Amino acid sequence: MKKILITGGAGFIGSHVVRQFIKNYADYQIINLDKLTYAGNLLNLTDLEDAPNYRFIKGDITDAAFISELFQTEKPDAVIHLAAESHVDRSISNPMEFVMTNVIGTVNLLNAAKESWKGDYANHRFYHVSTDEVYGSLGETGMFTETTAYDPHSPYSASKASSDHFVRAYHDTYGLDVVISNCSNNYGSHHFPEKLIPLAINNIKNNKAVPVYGKGENIRDWLWVEDHASAIDRIFHQAKAGDTYNIGGHNEWKNIDLIQLLCRIMDEKLGRESGTSAALITYVTDRAGHDLRYAIDSGKLQKELNWTPSLQFEEGLAKTVDWYLENDEWLENVTSGNYQDYYKQQYEYNEQ
Ligand code: NAD
Ligand code: TYD
Repeated sequence: MKKILITGGAGFIGSHVVRQFIKNYADYQIINLDKLTYAGNLLNLTDLEDAPNYRFIKGDITDAAFISELFQTEKPDAVIHLAAESHVDRSISNPMEFVMTNVIGTVNLLNAAKESWKGDYANHRFYHVSTDEVYGSLGETGMFTETTAYDPHSPYSASKASSDHFVRAYHDTYGLDVVISNCSNNYGSHHFPEKLIPLAINNIKNNKAVPVYGKGENIRDWLWVEDHASAIDRIFHQAKAGDTYNIGGHNEWKNIDLIQLLCRIMDEKLGRESGTSAALITYVTDRAGHDLRYAIDSGKLQKELNWTPSLQFEEGLAKTVDWYLENDEWLENVTSGNYQDYYKQQYEYNEQ
């Protein structure tokens, strides 16, 4: 039986990865290691609590002694590493938190893997989940490929770029079997409402202003989160040691166009008169160092591993809205308490 340690499994993408692995591989043991920060929530995994091949462990990847002991007691065969601080705006106000979790936390895991798997690297794998933001910002044309030079601009992307470099260094220096994937912006259920799509859904639902940074002209390439999880499954099982894959949906949207589409879907789902939600759109001060455009070329993954996204964006977005409207309790739970303080700090003095 294969034992896989998934870090950050109580977060947005991690919970979908845990779910797919539990469903697809009844013969694997899945251990979900998560600190349960503001972004981690066991409510994301209630349907899996009783699965016989699943266990949750609460712990912090920045604690080197704890991580080393965990490897000694649990002896995982592989790691799929998603735990991270993941929000660009928070990285602007508190960069050190991102250095600690994303850089130090990743190196702690690499050290524990290097020691615990010594002499048998060929039968173990360290899969590092990263982002397209490490490649920096594109102009109006071009796409990121696996060989695009790193050029991060935000403290978040700089910390992810640094962790990617450490992962590759442990392959090149010690021979650890590592794999990295760099994915575009994800959307779907269980997404914490500090990121654009779930924040806008929550605000429209509550008739609150929908904040659009700058002129709304920045472009992101959106992928349904379950398609990201299926790509991780394929890469984890089929990639060569040391390899990298870009994951994306060939689905670029200008922020303002995306928000307009979301407003139309919300009007329809909430039975509101057309244009009601769009009237909530409010342009606010731009994010500092705001990357203009991300676009992923996922040709290598499509050609070599035969992966393609399963959902069109309009369909995925409508499904996502349905999930949020059907899961009031989840939304209320994650937006109570500290969320209100964060929101006030980030947006209150921000409207142009
Ligand atoms: P998230 O913020 O929703 O979840 C992160 C999880 O990590 C949370 O459950 C949190 O509790 C946990 N965590 C944070 N610090 C920890 C620590 N010190 N020890 C243990 N656990 C800790 O993030 P997400 O959007 O699900 O992203 C997951 C991974 O995917 C990240 O590595 C991120 O960089 C990467 N990624 C995200 C996107 C995206 O669009 N969200 C796109 C590409 C790549
Ligand atoms: P976000 O979801 O934070 O993801 P990322 O910055 O990692 O791409 O933001 C997506 C885009 O939406 C980005 O260009 C910033 C913009 N944005 C807004 O316009 N308003 C908001 O309130 C937020 C959170 C983001």
